[in-house]
Amino acid sequence: MIETNTAAAGTAPFAFTPENQAEARSILARYPKGREHSAALPLLDLAQRQQGYVDRSAMEAVAGLTGLAPIRILEVATFYTMFRHAPVGEHHFEVCTNISCWLRGSDEVLRALRDELGLDPGGKSDDGKFSVQECECLGACVNAPAVRVGDHYFEDLTYDNTVALIRKLRAGEKVVLGSQTGRVGSANAAGATALAGRAS
Ligand code: FES
Repeated sequence: MIETNTAAAGTAPFAFTPENQAEARSILARYPKGREHSAALPLLDLAQRQQGYVDRSAMEAVAGLTGLAPIRILEVATFYTMFRHAPVGEHHFEVCTNISCWLRGSDEVLRALRDELGLDPGGKSDDGKFSVQECECLGACVNAPAVRVGDHYFEDLTYDNTVALIRKLRAGEKVVLGSQTGRVGSANAAGATALAGRAS
């Protein structure tokens, strides 16, 4: 039994909605009988999509469904940075500060968030619209520095285009996903050079 922070806060324990109970059954059915442990990650993701974060009560619910000891679910949910353990903002910036992003300017992304929102990693705005956390490699190193906001990636970030992105999100305007410098996919930022100068 994991000590539950929801119980401590006097709120109801986590429970999947009827719709998500059906989804959880469908997730469990993807795995062979006796291998339900493997459903831990997608079930934690489902809990997070329902509640916005995975607290200990949600971990216990997932433990109950998978048959894993709650401590095992706690280990998984605290290993992967994509699982959050407290409410976050509507626009939750996960800023990669791993090696490629750091070399390519993630400090400038963090500076833009600090200047524009007054938030450092771990912070959440009073209006609940924005929150910030540092995260490990997002797998978008070729277009570093990168952030994830919800299910969307924003890449090739600079101080200025991060500020512009924040302002658009705040205004509810449409934003461009992926590269913020117009790079197509992960094409060379300097343009096509591999065959430049070669005789035809
Ligand atoms: S190091 Fe940032 S995406 Fe890989």
